[in-house]
This record gives sequence, C-alpha cells and structure tokens, in this order.
Amino acid sequence: MLEIKDLFVSIGAKMVLRNVNLRIGSGETHVLFGPNGTGKTTLLNAIAGIPRYIVESGNIIFKGEDITQMTMDERARLGIGMAFQRPPALRGLKLKDLIKIINPNADTVSILNKMDFQQFGDREVNRGFSGGEVKRSEMVQLLAQQPGFVMLDEPDSGVDLENIKLIGEAINQLTQKNIRPKQRTKSGIIITHFGHILEYTKTDRAHVMLDGSIVCSGNPSEILDQIKKSGYEGCVACLCPT
Ligand SMILES: Nc1ncnc2c1ncn2[C@@H]1O[C@H](COP(=O)(O)OP(=O)(O)OP(=O)(O)O)[C@@H](O)[C@H]1O
Ligand SMILES: [Mg+2]
Repeated sequence: MLEIKDLFVSIGAKMVLRNVNLRIGSGETHVLFGPNGTGKTTLLNAIAGIPRYIVESGNIIFKGEDITQMTMDERARLGIGMAFQRPPALRGLKLKDLIKIINPNADTVSILNKMDFQQFGDREVNRGFSGGEVKRSEMVQLLAQQPGFVMLDEPDSGVDLENIKLIGEAINQLTQKNIRPKQRTKSGIIITHFGHILEYTKTDRAHVMLDGSIVCSGNPSEILDQIKKSGYEGCVACLCPT
C-alpha cells in the first residue's frame, strides 16, 4: 500500500527526516512512536504532500505509484487521508458543508451521530472547539472521505475516556477491523505517545523514530512496554541492538 524509500525531508533550513524507510502493507495498521520533535508529524505531513515539507531525496510510493511530486489534493483523491495533530480552524465554513465538499454522497447525519457530534454540524470547522472536540471533528471528516490509507497524528491526545472509545470505533471502521485481516484492503498509521488509543484498536506493527530516522520496528505492545520501562533509547538498544 505505502512504501517510503530513503526519504530525506527538510522544513525551513532544517533537515528533519533522514533516510526514512517504511513499508505498510494492504490491510495493515502501524504505529509510530518517538519523542517530541523527532519528526513524526513531519513524516505524515510529507506523505500528505504539504508543500512546505520539502522532499530532498527519496520516494513515496502509494499503491505502486510514485506520488513524491504530486500535489496534496491529488494524493487525497488517490485515497490518502489525515487527521492532523493540530488542524486549523476554518472561519466561515460549517462542518456539515465541509462534509459535503469532502464527499457529496456522505450520510452527514449518521457520521455526526457516530461521533456524538450532532450539535457541531452548524459550527465553523474547529473554531472554538476544545482539544478533544477537534480530534472528533478530524474523525468526522475522515469518515466522510473513507480514505484507503489513513494517517492519525495523535488521535488520542487530550481526549476523554468516553470519546476515545468513539475515536477507536471510527479508526476500526476506517481500517476495516470488523472483517478478517486477510480480507482487509485499507491501511493506516497512528502516532501516539502513551498508546491509549491502542487499547481500542488493534495494530500490526510499530516503529520507533529517533532524530528523524526509524531505528526500530516490532510488535506494538512490546515496543510500548519497553519505552515505558527503559525510555526510547533504551527500548531501541534492547529490542533492536545494532
Ligand atoms: N519551519 C520550521 N523551521 C525549522 N524547524 C522546524 C520547522 N517546522 C518544524 N520544525 C522542527 O522539526 C522538528 C520535527 O517536528 P515534528 O512536528 O515532526 O515533531 P514530532 O515528532 O511530531 O513531535 P511531537 O511529538 O511534539 O508532535 C521539530 O524540532 C520542529 O521544531
Ligand atoms: Mg507531532
């Protein structure tokens, strides 16, 4: 589904990603761990194609097609979706109108109901939303888009215990957790610090990013346990010794 090859990405004058390699198969959901400022959001934003993230070298292949030079909207149309860590507020645009722009055939009422978000349809997107409400707003938009590959940048940060369950259910729907693994065709990647969301959705593989590179990959719960026990560097030294 997604293949990242020898990717170097800069923002401003800073080279943030250095030689990132990553493969996510069809039907798989992966997790990305790593300390603050290490480049996790940069990786997702580069895959989404946000222009200020400059690919200095390397390739992003999606469903066999090289998308490295494609615009953001071309990538979205191919089926790449993203829930942003800190999305902007969209002044003058109501959430229910955005849903229709994303997908004219979307069942707005049922999507809003699913995220317990009925009262937000007439509000401007993310404007004045609380931290947890913004996270649900992002899920509403993804449920309208139904992307083939979904990127979730800290979907659990700042979300209360009842709403995290709703977000987990939305992720399960987007990544087809209701059908057998072999039949799944949709994939995803989730960034999380504490792994709370992993209690509500099953993931296949996890990666640890340190200083702009993926330095270790393995079983999500094993990696999370090791990070909690020995920190990021200790986790890598223990699970992926060089
Ligand atoms: N315009 C910019 N100019 C210089 N450095 C930048 C710019 N934008 C981002 N950075 C830096 O790039 C690095 C990677 O940021 P990124 O948002 O990818 O980190 P992250 O791993 O997602 O961290 P967090 O866990 O805190 O969300 C940070 O050190 C950040 O300050
Ligand atoms: Mg981030």
